[in-house]
Amino acid sequence: MNEQVTFKLNGKDVSVPKGWTVMEAARRENVSIPHFCWHPGLKIAGVCRFCMVEVVGRPKLEIACNLPVTEGLEINTKTDVVKDAHKWGLEFHLINHPLDCPICDQAGECKLQDYYMEVGKYKSQMTRPKILKPKALDVGSELVLDTERCILCSRCVRFEEEVTKTNALGIFSRGDRSIIGTYNEEKLKHNYQENQVDICPVGAFTSKRFRFKQRVWFLTQKESICPGCSTGCRISVHAKPQERRYFRIKPVLDKEVNGYWMCDIGRRTFEHHNLENRLDSASLVKRGNGELAALAEQLEASSPRDIALLVSAQYLNEEYQSFFEFFVKELGVQKVYQWREPTEKRDDFDNILLRGDRNANTQGLMGTLETFGLSRNARNEFDDCLKSKSKVVIALCPEITSGFPSLGTHLTQLAEMPFVSLWTCLIEATEIKGLENLIPMKSFFEKKGTTLNYNKVERKLESPYPSAVFGALDVSEAVSALRSEMRKMLGKD
Ligand code: SF4
Ligand code: SF4
Ligand code: FES
Repeated sequence: MNEQVTFKLNGKDVSVPKGWTVMEAARRENVSIPHFCWHPGLKIAGVCRFCMVEVVGRPKLEIACNLPVTEGLEINTKTDVVKDAHKWGLEFHLINHPLDCPICDQAGECKLQDYYMEVGKYKSQMTRPKILKPKALDVGSELVLDTERCILCSRCVRFEEEVTKTNALGIFSRGDRSIIGTYNEEKLKHNYQENQVDICPVGAFTSKRFRFKQRVWFLTQKESICPGCSTGCRISVHAKPQERRYFRIKPVLDKEVNGYWMCDIGRRTFEHHNLENRLDSASLVKRGNGELAALAEQLEASSPRDIALLVSAQYLNEEYQSFFEFFVKELGVQKVYQWREPTEKRDDFDNILLRGDRNANTQGLMGTLETFGLSRNARNEFDDCLKSKSKVVIALCPEITSGFPSLGTHLTQLAEMPFVSLWTCLIEATEIKGLENLIPMKSFFEKKGTTLNYNKVERKLESPYPSAVFGALDVSEAVSALRSEMRKMLGKD
């Protein structure tokens, strides 16, 4: 066990591992110490001077973020002198901050607003005009920068130094002219830009994709797993379920998987969930059980030798289990092919989070195949399926198209096979002539179950959104509806 150090926090004895700071100890004890520059995923900078605490026996207040806990230390965070320091510290931070709140995208999740209510509530003594700085700068494909709102906490600079190692941002000029910017007006080019929006405590960095789309207090948040690659970052999905619309994705701390971050590719994985991108939302009536009945007829009329399963690695463990249970164990189908992007570089890794395997559950699929005696390595077997001369193909379509440039071609090729039942949530499928049997599926954020990431770390999807498409199914539901159709056909129900 780590060596523990005991100190007094607001009069209470607290023990923490040696090496912890007062800020870390206070957070664990749910004692709020206002702060701007400290972030648990970045190195300590100690520049905002906002996290002042009283150290009993020492003449001046000290910053909690850079103060190691030592045996017998006595810290007060709520005394009048500390409260005063926070109040006037905040006034200094607001001296040149514009009164943008009504039109600022950060409203509702701005630390300046929150701390004003928590520790501020003063009447400003500032009489001189505010220093004006450039606003709405295009600093990257995903980002807009408002330098007037910046409080120079340097989190964004440290992120570029420590996480992406791109060193793309700096603080230029001196005193109240200091300004955040990129070198030589170059734009940020990496795949982790929107983390800047998350870590910026104010509305200086905003997301091009999300800004002005929605007030954050109208959004519901549910935890899920990013379906963008085999890392499987833990995320929260922000949506308006009553409008069946998804708006944004943010990372959730998972020390074992993604830490505090996620990539921009992953943040885009909400777009295909929205109603306008979903399979046949307009004419759904003709889908669903009607299509399943047609598939049931085909299955009934075919020998298991003429049936093939084509399976992508973007579904959940429980879905694979029921899929193979039914088709392999009950119906005796033996032809099972993996459906992967032929150009994928599966072992690629960007040394931060993103992996070349752009399927969320390759390991889960491999594990389930093994349980059904269909053990094999991950590889694309799409062409083998085409050549298999199967009369009926049941295909679990990938839903993340960004990592699947061949999907359109594959769908066109599939349409030439005698009978393909495509289980998908993508509207693109309706554009392919000849693909008639389409089963509308729930998307990733609308299902309960588990995935295994590249490292076989199991993660649960526990709080699904109601499907944006009324009547859409997950694989287990589709299998059980299909089973009933077949039983009906055989007169067993
Ligand atoms: S832009 Fe935001 S994160 Fe960067 S220094 Fe300014 S306030 Fe801090
Ligand atoms: S690294 Fe992979 S799992 Fe993580 S956010 Fe990016 S795409 Fe999603
Ligand atoms: S949070 Fe401690 S100095 Fe900024």
